[in-house]
Amino acid sequence: MAFILGLPTPSDYTALSTWVEDATTCMRWAGPNLPFPLDVEHLPQLLNGPEATRTSYILYNSERLGDPLGFGQLVQKESGISHLARIIISPKYRGNGLGRVLCQQLIAKATAVSRVQQLTLYVYRDNQNAMGLYLSLGFAEADKQPRSDMVLMQKILECM
Ligand SMILES: CC(C)(COP(=O)(O)OP(=O)(O)OC[C@H]1O[C@@H](n2cnc3c(N)ncnc32)[C@H](O)[C@@H]1OP(=O)(O)O)[C@@H](O)C(=O)NCCC(=O)NCCS
Repeated sequence: MAFILGLPTPSDYTALSTWVEDATTCMRWAGPNLPFPLDVEHLPQLLNGPEATRTSYILYNSERLGDPLGFGQLVQKESGISHLARIIISPKYRGNGLGRVLCQQLIAKATAVSRVQQLTLYVYRDNQNAMGLYLSLGFAEADKQPRSDMVLMQKILECM
């Protein structure tokens, strides 16, 4: 099956809000600044914030039929860095390779922008599923770490 990334609709945000079952999942997914329970009405503003450089994407099958499958964000940082954030797969579709598809499609979007030389992301150290996913995609722990419970991962892209 083929998959695409699109811009989320209001109903996608409603679906997304049901994927975050508890405060621990919320923290692991979106960090400490997104309150749980989620405020569904204001979720787009809460997730996208004021940064014009942050873009949200929803993963669908290629016909955009059925449920949304996953959600993630790209943040264009200072020159040459693109940051992946808020990656999540709908609980009912986890463990089927879709986390990998979502990340690969986000990376393809990020690297379509010229001058992106490095990808980064944060992950909680105890989030073993996500850590395994990112390591298998070629991310590695950065030399400098901001906190003991959270890992900054990076992937240096080869120069074209
Ligand atoms: C992390 C997450 C996105 C992975 O999505 P997924 O669709 O289940 O992952 P995939 O099926 O594509 O698996 C890809 C890799 O992730 C790792 N992984 C995923 N689920 C795993 C599990 N239950 N146990 C061990 N490793 C696992 C493995 O390395 C796997 O590769 P493999 O299948 O070749 O062994 C999903 O678990 C999720 O949405 N979690 C809640 C939100 C969250 O924590 N997001 C991360 C924020 S940093």
